[in-house]
Amino acid sequence: MSTDDTTDASTDTESKCGASTSTETSAETDDGSSKCGASSSSSSSGCGASTDDADEEEVGATVDDFDADPGQLVAVGLGPGQPEGMTARAKAALSDAEHIVGYTTYVDLLPDDITERADDIYDTPMCGEVSRTEEAIDRALAGNDVAIIGSGDPNVYALAGLALEIVESKGATASMLDFDVVPGVPAAQSCAARVGAPLVNDTVSISLSDHLTDMPTIESRLHAAAKEGFTITIYNPWSRKRRENYEKCCEILLEHRDPETPVGVVHAAGREDERAEIVELQDLPELGETDLVDMTTTLLVGNEDTYVWDGRMVTPRGYETKYDY
Ligand SMILES: C[S@@+](CC[C@H](N)C(=O)[O-])C[C@H]1O[C@@H](n2cnc3c(N)ncnc32)[C@H](O)[C@@H]1O
Repeated sequence: MSTDDTTDASTDTESKCGASTSTETSAETDDGSSKCGASSSSSSSGCGASTDDADEEEVGATVDDFDADPGQLVAVGLGPGQPEGMTARAKAALSDAEHIVGYTTYVDLLPDDITERADDIYDTPMCGEVSRTEEAIDRALAGNDVAIIGSGDPNVYALAGLALEIVESKGATASMLDFDVVPGVPAAQSCAARVGAPLVNDTVSISLSDHLTDMPTIESRLHAAAKEGFTITIYNPWSRKRRENYEKCCEILLEHRDPETPVGVVHAAGREDERAEIVELQDLPELGETDLVDMTTTLLVGNEDTYVWDGRMVTPRGYETKYDY
């Protein structure tokens, strides 16, 4: 989701493969500045449907606008970033794809042999997740085998659901496109691996992005998760536009949890600028203004049993209550 996964939405009216244009608003980039712009493509539209007016604001081409036998549409999760974090199945799906569609940051992370093999790469530099997803669908409806890519897993705050919604809104079907999802390692798990074993008991994920979920709902979910004693993974924790969300999140967690609760703070897991620290919950508020916490960071908040041992977070699963060791 997020455009990348680290951005939120866009204004995006470029001409697209096969047809429509769409307009989204409320853009936010990695660093929180609002600068979602036009998308770019390594090639111009090569698909086969009619083109709507440039100011069309809704999903444009419908299934009836395409004459070709549809190709396949696959949502592929890349995992945390570097090629070695991709599953073999993800690599195979990308090798099989004729067109690859994704946020520029993720296209840039693809190995050369994959990008060189593809007939076409369509990437958007910022935001634009709806128009980009529609572009992928139109290309598949026009007869191409298309992979739409994202970080982590396509089912975790990502585009797999949006793809199905747009396919449906076009009057097409998932079966017609042989729609498939190729899982990737989600950020929570990549990040957990960097700080030991923080998530081995019941865990709740919450995104602080209030672009699609309003802040009162996010706050109420934070209260519930913190009160019920789950370990909590916080996605989309901070950006300049979301300072207040981060501050509110810290306040809610501190309302329900011991200030010394261990928190794993992992920035850019599996990428060149990876950083991982284990801090106490009470230290979290001041980290919001540092490079460690931004839109490529995931927070792993321990439960009441989580402790730090030998530089690793440990969340007991409960074995110690049943077995002697
Ligand atoms: C819109 S979500 C997408 C999540 C993704 N689909 C997944 O399965 O991990 C974007 C958020 O994921 C987290 N994230 C993505 N990649 C990350 C990485 N390499 N290291 C740490 N956090 C990451 C950050 O919290 C970021 O704001």
